[in-house]
Amino acid sequence: MAANIIDGKAFAATVREKVAGHVARLKEEHNITPGLAVVLVGEDPASQVYVRSKGKQTVEAGMNSFEHKLDADTSEADLLAVVEQLNNDPAVHGILVQLPLPGHLNEDLIINSIAPEKDVDGFHISNVGLLGTGQKSMVPCTPLGCLMMLRDYHGSLSGMDAVVIGRSNIVGKPMAQLLLGDSCTVTIAHSRTKDLPDVVRRADIVVAAVGRPEMVPGDWIKEGATVIDVGINRIQRDGKNKLVGDVDFASAAERAGAITPVPGGVGPMTIACLLANTVTACCRANGLAEPEGLTA
Ligand code: GUN
Repeated sequence: MAANIIDGKAFAATVREKVAGHVARLKEEHNITPGLAVVLVGEDPASQVYVRSKGKQTVEAGMNSFEHKLDADTSEADLLAVVEQLNNDPAVHGILVQLPLPGHLNEDLIINSIAPEKDVDGFHISNVGLLGTGQKSMVPCTPLGCLMMLRDYHGSLSGMDAVVIGRSNIVGKPMAQLLLGDSCTVTIAHSRTKDLPDVVRRADIVVAAVGRPEMVPGDWIKEGATVIDVGINRIQRDGKNKLVGDVDFASAAERAGAITPVPGGVGPMTIACLLANTVTACCRANGLAEPEGLTA
């Protein structure tokens, strides 16, 4: 069976359109423009690319983008002061501190200094706790994008067996919480999991988020399962640079019912969901109805 390809690029474009529509209505009806502040410390090249892309897409959606670029040797006190200023700025509805931070800065301390209602990454311990207890929270962007694609493809996920491979705070753990929230039976697998192939073979839904190129071969995939590949790994093949996921796409696509490609699957959904979270945060801050279909 040849799998259906879940086109994340096209889906992300529809999310961005919905966001832009909502932004336009907020301006027209309430004279409010959502604003997203991104803080970048240092000059990590990959982070610079992400931050540029975030700023561009924020403006394209009609929102205000505020960029704060700080030197790599910025002190913790100075960074905390920038976050505090953004927490108190009514024009800023979402704050994102780009990770990783330089080694001398305590990431947990910085993330937990962001006002939870402006934490559009959903990394603050308050949001982690709210998500874990099924309460309204800000939801991390990449897992939110995966959930949107799964809901779009399946409708209801209720009763499905889901395996999340990877236990990171950014993807694996919140993904598992979201799937549980949609009434899946959820297993979180990781590097110490025994009989990983057999665990994955039970799954109706496989979310791979480990960061190891093509570590999931096709023969681990149950016939007809839905495979969401969060991995973005740069490798050299046949003398060329190539982006591959955590799943071996060619062999998995022969068994899966549906699969996300790399690139063009989960990747584009992350920034689209960041924009969605910014609109959601703006609506909540102003006591307005949240956009339909853009939250968990
Ligand atoms: N670095 C890589 N991905 C992310 C993300 O989703 N949020 C933040 N803040 N930093 C990142």
